[in-house]
Amino acid sequence: MPTAANSPSPVVVADKSRTLAIKGGTPVRANPVPLISAGLTPEDIEAATAVLKSGMLRQGARCAEFEKEFAALTDARHALTCANGTCALQLAYEPLFNAGDDVLVPAWTYIATASMIVARGARPVFVESDPDTMCIDVADAERRITPRTTAIAATHLYGNPVNIDGVQALAKKRNFKVVYDAAQAHLATYHGKGIGAYGDAVTYSFYATKNISTGEGGMVTVNDDALAKQIGLLRSHGETGKYLHESVGYNYRMTDVEGAIGLSQLRRAPALTAQRRQNANRLDALIGKIDGLQAPKATPGAEHSYHLYTVRLDVDRFGATRDEFVAALQSEGVQCAVHYPRSLTRQPAFSAFVTEHLPGADRLAASVFCIPVHPALTERDIADIGEALAKVADALRR
Ligand SMILES: Cc1ncc(COP(=O)(O)O)c(C=O)c1O
Repeated sequence: MPTAANSPSPVVVADKSRTLAIKGGTPVRANPVPLISAGLTPEDIEAATAVLKSGMLRQGARCAEFEKEFAALTDARHALTCANGTCALQLAYEPLFNAGDDVLVPAWTYIATASMIVARGARPVFVESDPDTMCIDVADAERRITPRTTAIAATHLYGNPVNIDGVQALAKKRNFKVVYDAAQAHLATYHGKGIGAYGDAVTYSFYATKNISTGEGGMVTVNDDALAKQIGLLRSHGETGKYLHESVGYNYRMTDVEGAIGLSQLRRAPALTAQRRQNANRLDALIGKIDGLQAPKATPGAEHSYHLYTVRLDVDRFGATRDEFVAALQSEGVQCAVHYPRSLTRQPAFSAFVTEHLPGADRLAASVFCIPVHPALTERDIADIGEALAKVADALRR
């Protein structure tokens, strides 16, 4: 992964006219600022190559080491590698959620958080998110409890931990199980502790774009010894001896090639996460000066890990939609993305479970976009992002 020090210096093009590039003006950047900085370092490649040379590609010593160090870094007692973040959710949900039960889940998250509830045979009950933190709104979750509700699945979205105190208090009051989806939040913390310390289980993804990326990959952390054993069995066909299967399970194992890459990346993840936080602070300062844009807000007590830096557009202040704003920003040379263009209540896949659409989630779907925050950004990149945002906002504001 290139660092701020060795990335090529950008070509900065002064835009005297302030005409938007999308309307024929000169872009702030001729060479766009990339949205992500995924890529393997020589150390990652060496670690993977050592496994390839050994000929032992299946889950083995590298995965075990990755699990041990991941558990330590997230303040969890156990960590279990698996094939991807979707499998991680399935492995966590199966022992904790009952088929036929209702599970509270934010409508504002990636599809897998909710679709794996359906795969479990349970019913997702969609909940609003807090407009500032963009994570589950605990008061709204409480209002939506049904007689069949027994669990909460909440996402530490974009790297921002949910209001864990609120979720845990509700869970305690109602005797609910809690799974946190931390696919995007590997090294986030809450009250100074790693997010693995909270809830019944926490799941993670190492998909190619994530802060730690093994191409495909996942992890589940838990603090209960019996649950860890159960998940370990589920991961590998309930096998307790050679061709002896104590229970029914899956093959959701990670390979040691992925384990080696994950371990290598985990060792530099604290420094890279610190750099993301520093970049986010700089972006916060720039965005704070632009009318009509709101920088992401970390949940009180939480330290965000900034997988994604998600800006909220006050759409009423602009004579343009979010999509038009994003198109203009891209033309200025800032790569951006929309996570997500629709709330889960608007997904055809969930039509059988949706009783109403949620205005707060729909507002987020119409107003957010993500800009680069990755650790390879240079100071110049960040300044250009700020300039491009201000230029587009000034041109499109009513
Ligand atoms: C919040 C969230 N949950 C779950 C997943 C699923 O992870 P995977 O793609 O590794 O299956 C993702 C992946 O993007 C995600 O962002």
